[in-house]
Amino acid sequence: MRTRLGYFEGGASGIGFETARVLALRNAHVIIAGRNMKAANEAKQLILKDNKTARLDALKLDLASLKSVKAFANNFIALKLPLNILINNAGIMFCPYQLSEDGIEMQFATNHLGHFYLTNLLLDIMKETARSTGIEGRIINLTSVAHLHTYDEGIQFDKMNEETSYLDKKAYGQSKLANILHANEVSRRLQAEGANITVNSVHPGLITTNLYRHSSLFISMH
Ligand SMILES: NC(=O)c1ccc[n+]([C@@H]2O[C@H](COP(=O)([O-])OP(=O)(O)OC[C@H]3O[C@@H](n4cnc5c(N)ncnc54)[C@H](OP(=O)(O)O)[C@@H]3O)[C@@H](O)[C@H]2O)c1
Repeated sequence: MRTRLGYFEGGASGIGFETARVLALRNAHVIIAGRNMKAANEAKQLILKDNKTARLDALKLDLASLKSVKAFANNFIALKLPLNILINNAGIMFCPYQLSEDGIEMQFATNHLGHFYLTNLLLDIMKETARSTGIEGRIINLTSVAHLHTYDEGIQFDKMNEETSYLDKKAYGQSKLANILHANEVSRRLQAEGANITVNSVHPGLITTNLYRHSSLFISMH
C-alpha cells in the first residue's frame, strides 16, 4: 500500500529533504511542496538519482501567503489523491522583523499560520483516507525546544505584528509554541470525533541546516 505525504520543504537539503528521501524509499508517494520550484524539482531529481522507482511530485507552496496555501490545497485536492501523512515541516528562524503579504509577523505566518490553514484545508481528505483505507493517519508538526523561550506571556496575541516589541528569538519560540498548541488541539478534536488520525509535534534535535542562516553564532561553533 503506497502512502501519500504532504511535505513542506523547498530546498535540496534540510530535515524535510531527508524525510522525503526515506519515505520514498519506504514506498510512500511523496509530495514535495516548496516556495522555490527549482529547488523542489532539484530535490526530486536528487532522490530519483538513487531511487529510480520513487514516486515524487513537486507542488508550489508559499506558507507565508494564505492565498498560496489555498491554491496549493486546491491543486492537491484536484489530484484526487488520498493523504495518509501530513508533515508540517517548513520553517524559518530568527529572521529580522518582517510582515507577510497578509500583514502577519513573518515567523508566525510561516511557521504556524500557513501550517494551521493548510492542515484545516486538508483535514477532510485525511479523515476520508483514514476511513476508507483503515490505516491510521498521521499529522506531524516540526516544533523545537525553542518553544520554551518565547515571550513572557507565551503568545503575544495583542501585539503580534508590532515591530517595537519584536524579538527575533522569542518570535521563533512563539511560533514553535503555536505548533505544539496546534497539534494538541487538532489531536483533541480528532479524538473526540473518533477519527483514526494521530497528531504529534516533534523537536528534531539540533542539526546545522539552512535554518541557521540568521544565526552566525551557531554556525561558527560547528
Ligand atoms: N535544524 C534544527 O536544528 C532544528 C531544530 C529544531 C527544530 N527544527 C525545525 O525543523 C524544521 C525544518 O528545519 P530545517 O533545519 O530542515 O531547516 P531548512 O533546511 O532551512 O529547511 C526549511 C525549509 O522550509 C522552507 N520554507 C521556508 N519558508 C517557507 C515558505 N514560506 N513556504 C514554503 N517553504 C518554506 C525552506 O525553503 P527555502 O529553501 O525556499 O528557504 C526550506 O526548504 C523547521 O520547522 C525547524 O523549525 C530544526
